[in-house]
Amino acid sequence: MANVFFTPHYIITGENALDLSKTYLTQMGKKALIVTDDFMVQFGNVKKVTDVLDSVQIDYSVYSKINGEPSDTMIDAGVEIYRDEGCDFLIGVGGGSPIDSMKAIGAVLANGGNICDYYGKVISKPIPPTCAIPTTAGTGSEATQFTIINNTRQNIKMLLKGPVLMSRLAIIDPTFTMTAPPKITAATGLDALCHAVEAYTSTKAFSMSDTYALSAVKRIFESLLECYKNGQNVEARTNMAIAALEAGIAFNNASVTLIHGMSRPIGAIYHVPHGLSNAMLLDKCLRFAVSGAYDRFCELAKIIGIYKEGMTVEEGAMAFIESVGELCRKLEIQTPAEFGIDEGDFIAHMDKMAQDALDSGSPGNTRRSPSKEEIIEIYRSLF
Ligand SMILES: NC(=O)c1ccc[n+]([C@@H]2O[C@H](COP(=O)([O-])OP(=O)(O)OC[C@H]3O[C@@H](n4cnc5c(N)ncnc54)[C@H](O)[C@@H]3O)[C@@H](O)[C@H]2O)c1
Ligand SMILES: [Fe+2]
Repeated sequence: MANVFFTPHYIITGENALDLSKTYLTQMGKKALIVTDDFMVQFGNVKKVTDVLDSVQIDYSVYSKINGEPSDTMIDAGVEIYRDEGCDFLIGVGGGSPIDSMKAIGAVLANGGNICDYYGKVISKPIPPTCAIPTTAGTGSEATQFTIINNTRQNIKMLLKGPVLMSRLAIIDPTFTMTAPPKITAATGLDALCHAVEAYTSTKAFSMSDTYALSAVKRIFESLLECYKNGQNVEARTNMAIAALEAGIAFNNASVTLIHGMSRPIGAIYHVPHGLSNAMLLDKCLRFAVSGAYDRFCELAKIIGIYKEGMTVEEGAMAFIESVGELCRKLEIQTPAEFGIDEGDFIAHMDKMAQDALDSGSPGNTRRSPSKEEIIEIYRSLF
């Protein structure tokens, strides 16, 4: 079977990647709209980018109101600023939220209407050139054709897609992630782990996506806990930044599965940060999915070095899932109850959440495809 594999046009990685990006930035346009959040301005990350732009005489405006996961209204505001300011390309600086917002702003600029019009469709008209500069080692949005935007009218987190959303330039400079506090490091790192594991066990996995997924899982088990405990360890931060990128490349080409499908409805209704809602579901979803892909889960046990001579494939697969659970415990991942979600309210929403999960298409990529009832069962098991 033939498969398409694609990535950003240019990927620049490593400490001081930003400096190396000057030549490529000058090819993108004359005036950038920098899409970001207020923390990025406060932490000085936006200044680092504008210093580079100043040095090569590229003009810019800053839109820093992506404070929280992006919504349709934030996108409308960004489109207006881009037009008013006469910008001709986009730079996203921050976690997945500003980078996704940058893509959605580009999508509306090129395709018209409102971002919600594109739910369930493929966004097709080429958007202005985009440059993604991630500051979390998590979403991999810098290397995906997806953007996830809250539809405030229907209370759903929309997964929107189109190859035109792929960044032209991705700058992966791990020094940007050094300021991420432990909680954000843990949740975003587990988001990357979900991307890699889901891509590797997806029905759409193939040789190219497998290579990136396996490498990402290995790096995450090597370095995530260290980043959580010691955020100043540059080597561990670098390893995680590459892992998140690789995991993004993997799922861009092989899709995500059950965890992401079930996670978005929790995020939409209870405003749980994306990485955390994935992490809450990780163990239960993998236990459901494992019987559809024992061999693949066993390969994951081998890549992280816990497969022992003499284990059966099933035992190897279960050993991997135990290791994931142990990692989540060490990263002190909250349960829905600890996050403050009311059990009764959660149960009342389960039917809609299960339907929204199925409608997103992601659960159907799981090798053991779940029914709506089985999804409801998994939601129920979280309490
Ligand atoms: N497009 C995709 O392919 C894709 C994939 C996965 C997730 N997502 C989406 O990405 C969003 C989540 O992104 P995220 O998890 O990166 O979080 P985020 O962008 O929402 O950021 C979370 C918080 O961390 C802060 N932060 C970010 N970098 C920091 C740093 N270096 N130091 C200190 N604070 C920092 C931000 O200011 C913010 O307060 C969700 O909306 C999710 O659905 C998109
Ligand atoms: Fe994700």
